[in-house]
Amino acid sequence: MRKWSAIFFSILLVLSLSACGQADKDNETGNGNSQVSAEKNKNNTGSTSSNTRVLIAYFTVPEDVKTSDNDAIAGASIVVKDSEKMGNTEYVAELVQKTIGGDLFRIETKDAYPLEHDTLVDQAAEEQEKELRPELSNHVENFEQYDTVILGFPNWWGDLPMPVYSFLEEYDFAGKTIIPFVTHGGSGFSATTDTISQLQPDAQVSDNTLSLSREDVADAEDEVKKWAQGLGLQ
Ligand SMILES: Cc1cc2nc3c(=O)[nH]c(=O)nc-3n(C[C@H](O)[C@H](O)[C@H](O)COP(=O)(O)O)c2cc1C
Repeated sequence: MRKWSAIFFSILLVLSLSACGQADKDNETGNGNSQVSAEKNKNNTGSTSSNTRVLIAYFTVPEDVKTSDNDAIAGASIVVKDSEKMGNTEYVAELVQKTIGGDLFRIETKDAYPLEHDTLVDQAAEEQEKELRPELSNHVENFEQYDTVILGFPNWWGDLPMPVYSFLEEYDFAGKTIIPFVTHGGSGFSATTDTISQLQPDAQVSDNTLSLSREDVADAEDEVKKWAQGLGLQ
């Protein structure tokens, strides 16, 4: 009897160990659920959790600004934290992700933007005037799995940067909630939330938005966390 129960429990142990191994494997690969989350893994694949329904998509162009060893450069189009240089919008997007989880997606273009301020400003103006839709180099996988898209962008010439138009026109947002946040040099959102509604009339564009001046981004950790927690998405 003792011998049989020893055999039985050994078999049970082997079975449960192999089940654990499979579960770990599924987690690593995202089990086919290939958008993803955080850390420094931008536009990454794999998933933190199989039931993630929040996508944090953002566009940013960290300009070529000379940095000192300081952690924060108020007023510049970049934030430096722990010696890492990030765009303002990128910094906020990562904070949101760290606060509430969700999958992080950086909207990127096939042709990189110039990092020198004047050249960037001129190019952006021209793209806007010509209503261009820059080609994107990356795409959200399984976009349909998301209920909520937190969408971050810098104000460019009182409008969405044109790659954000490309992004909004690429997917079907019907039935989803879009929660916009903006970083800017004084203009706030301008009319961008209305534009988002026009581009995606069947999505619900939330009023619970966040607008941050570039002057304040580097010191806005508490404000960003509070806002993100207040979205009720954890
Ligand atoms: C091409 C360009 C156009 C801009 N136009 C405006 C503007 O019209 N109004 C405004 O408040 N800020 C404007 N800014 C400032 C940016 O919105 C601000 O620096 C933002 O935080 C940059 O975010 P990023 O570092 O994530 O790219 C502009 C910046 C650039 C590069």
